[in-house]
Amino acid sequence: MRLLGGILGMASLLMQTVTAIDMVITSVKAAAAEIAFGLTKYYTGHLPGDTPGNLPDPYFWWEAGAMFGTLIDYWQLTGDDTYNDITKQAILHQAAPTRDFMPRNQTRTLGNDDQGFWAMTAMTAAELKFPDPGPDQPQYLALAQAVFNQWAQRWEENESSGCGGGLPWQIFRFNRGFNYRNSISNGCFFNIASRLARFTGNVTYAEWAAKIYTWQEETGLFRDGDVLDGVTVKPEEGNSCDSIDEIQWTYNAGIFIHGSAVMYNFTDGNPIWKRRLDSHLASAERTFFTNSTDGERVMFEQFCEPPGFCDIDQRSFKGYLTRWLARTTQLAPYTFESISPLLTNSAIAAAKACSGSPTEAPPGEQPFRGRPGTACGFSWTKGGYDGMNGVGEQMNALSAVASTLVDRVDVPVTGDTGGTSKGDVNGGADGPGSWMTGKEYKPITTGERVAAGFVTAAMVFGVIGGSAFLIL
Ligand SMILES: *[C@@H]1O[C@H](CO)[C@@H](O)[C@H](O)[C@H]1NC(C)=O
Ligand SMILES: *[C@@H]1O[C@H](CO)[C@@H](O)[C@H](O)[C@H]1NC(C)=O
Ligand SMILES: *[C@@H]1O[C@H](CO)[C@@H](O)[C@H](O)[C@H]1NC(C)=O
Ligand SMILES: *[C@@H]1O[C@H](CO)[C@@H](O)[C@H](O)[C@H]1NC(C)=O
Ligand SMILES: *[C@@H]1O[C@H](CO)[C@@H](O)[C@H](O)[C@H]1NC(C)=O
Repeated sequence: MRLLGGILGMASLLMQTVTAIDMVITSVKAAAAEIAFGLTKYYTGHLPGDTPGNLPDPYFWWEAGAMFGTLIDYWQLTGDDTYNDITKQAILHQAAPTRDFMPRNQTRTLGNDDQGFWAMTAMTAAELKFPDPGPDQPQYLALAQAVFNQWAQRWEENESSGCGGGLPWQIFRFNRGFNYRNSISNGCFFNIASRLARFTGNVTYAEWAAKIYTWQEETGLFRDGDVLDGVTVKPEEGNSCDSIDEIQWTYNAGIFIHGSAVMYNFTDGNPIWKRRLDSHLASAERTFFTNSTDGERVMFEQFCEPPGFCDIDQRSFKGYLTRWLARTTQLAPYTFESISPLLTNSAIAAAKACSGSPTEAPPGEQPFRGRPGTACGFSWTKGGYDGMNGVGEQMNALSAVASTLVDRVDVPVTGDTGGTSKGDVNGGADGPGSWMTGKEYKPITTGERVAAGFVTAAMVFGVIGGSAFLIL
């Protein structure tokens, strides 16, 4: 109740006295703190005997990376540094000895997108001036550059293998999904490339961002601003490149909106990037917002939320679109007017959904250990808690509530405007070379895959299941 009361206060932001606004901000921060508490209760990686950076089953490695990025945003937006130590510990542990987010424990199932979510978390740390690690430790900017370098190498090695380039979803050929070139993997590459350009001023990164964007466009993965999920290269059909999965997900939209906004800013308002940004923004607004029972337009995962079959991964996507929309308003300030009401409505609706007191976990999942009455549900359209809870639900709501503070905090820095994170343009060199061909690894067996329930398998089934659903 406390949560709801505080957030409803946001609706009265128009009250003009400073005191009223201060009170609203105080209650937004209190609500965000409560949700962050519930979120981090799922995490045990910092406890003795556990592995820093891993969430317990059934949460995949990439989602943990996304969670720490969410917590960095939370810290910058609210000033609450409660989770900074576990966040830094997790990033440094998972950066691994090779300093490229290719930890050996994950390599057999590691996709470019999984690596990408950790790389984007490191990039966020550099941009928001998250406390730097000691000089002997991996540095945030250098980590993002290392991953960028590996992606450039993987792209080039695949330029002649259908679709004229594109980053494969998977890193290793023995994994299913290697022939799938998806928007989220290429979106991670695009997003990091644009941000490295802005942070370092090095135009090579901007050239890559433009090249990736054009590739997506020419491959048919953009349609009137919509971002379609991916394309399967079919070697058995002469490397044909027209088998497109048309499902739209919030995170695919968000990653291209944000990267386009970064490029718009980096190019001092180039109209080409403005047109691109506007088209993705208009698409997201018409595709991923719907009327709630309270009559507000709020964010929803249009493909799987109404029928109720979003999987664990998909239940976290709205949080990323939210964060990327919020940061877009800082880099392309003209978008604030259209984005801000969407974020505010969603924040209020999300806070209303954080009123659950679940007594047990959904089957196969972890129980909610936050305070009773503050568990966040998944859907924001129903005016209350919908009975679903988990890391994704908490993360989405935390992003929604905290993002309403984005116009009160510093714009992400660059190397010229106060950034302190140290880079390494040659990072990533000793990473995936031999690993890429999979020489050191036997193909994963079905048994192992099933046992571990890896993201690879889950996403392949998701893709196939999703397409089947569309055809039906
Ligand atoms: C890999 O797994 C081992 C055994 O569980 C663990 O001790 C180690 O910390 C893990 N490394 C990473 C980077 O997660
Ligand atoms: C690039 O992709 C093709 C199939 O899409 C694959 O056969 C080839 O081995 C890939 N190259 C590398 C270096 O992995
Ligand atoms: C710019 O980035 C490219 C790609 O990583 C790198 O090869 C080049 O050395 C960088 N230039 C400078 C001046 O750092
Ligand atoms: C780029 O971002 C800065 C910081 O928010 C802003 O002042 C500037 O106006 C932006 N540039 C454009 C072209 O909007
Ligand atoms: C959503 O609400 C608006 C304004 O209340 C209304 O005009 C519109 O028809 C509604 N859309 C749907 C799909 O119900």
